[in-house]
Amino acid sequence: MRKLWEHVFSAIYDPLLWVAERAGMARPRGNLLAQASGRVLELGAGTGLNFRHYPEAVEKLVLTDPAAPMVSRLKRRARRSGRDCSVVPAAAEALPFDDDSFDTVVSTLVLCTVDDPRRAIDEIARVLRPGGRLLFLEHVRSDSRRLAGWQDRLHRPWRAFAAGCHANRPTVELLRESVLRVDEVEPDCWNWMPALVHPLSIGRAEA
Ligand SMILES: C[S@@+](CC[C@H](N)C(=O)[O-])C[C@H]1O[C@@H](n2cnc3c(N)ncnc32)[C@H](O)[C@@H]1O
Repeated sequence: MRKLWEHVFSAIYDPLLWVAERAGMARPRGNLLAQASGRVLELGAGTGLNFRHYPEAVEKLVLTDPAAPMVSRLKRRARRSGRDCSVVPAAAEALPFDDDSFDTVVSTLVLCTVDDPRRAIDEIARVLRPGGRLLFLEHVRSDSRRLAGWQDRLHRPWRAFAAGCHANRPTVELLRESVLRVDEVEPDCWNWMPALVHPLSIGRAEA
């Protein structure tokens, strides 16, 4: 059942996000990805909504995702763009790359979904060179007790609908507890989406 929903979710992902992307999400994606440089690894790249935002100056671009239906869409988008990049099926918790092999790791709306966020963050730290940067844009647990309460209460149905997403995950706290140094975090709002995923944290962390 989970596999079947993965297929459906990947097919409806872009239409579901269409209004929110146009109503504002494309701008923070662009601002964040303008900072990507050198050898860049994107985790959970999904259908490839970030693709058009990467600066030409990026030296090497590797896009990963563990879900086969997302990987197919990603490959199609990459092919159509004509841009040089590689697409590698992989989960963030077990990245098939050497230590210190990237200058930038990108995670947008992914650390909410990985099964084991601490392990994924350790993997990010491992593949980043010393001084390399994680660029993140994640929806997170709300600071409002009322909204956080709803994120907890609706956790199970939301997770089933959104293909494994934990709307109540305190991702920035997990990053702060890790070996990465979080050096900038901006709050934002994912408008035109359900309130459960409104609170966004956008920022950088250094290895
Ligand atoms: C909400 S989508 C975000 C897609 C894309 N990053 C974006 O910004 O639109 C979450 C993505 O995380 C992927 N994912 C699920 N489990 C994962 C894991 N363990 N490691 C990496 N990515 C994962 C899903 O397949 C999906 O493509």
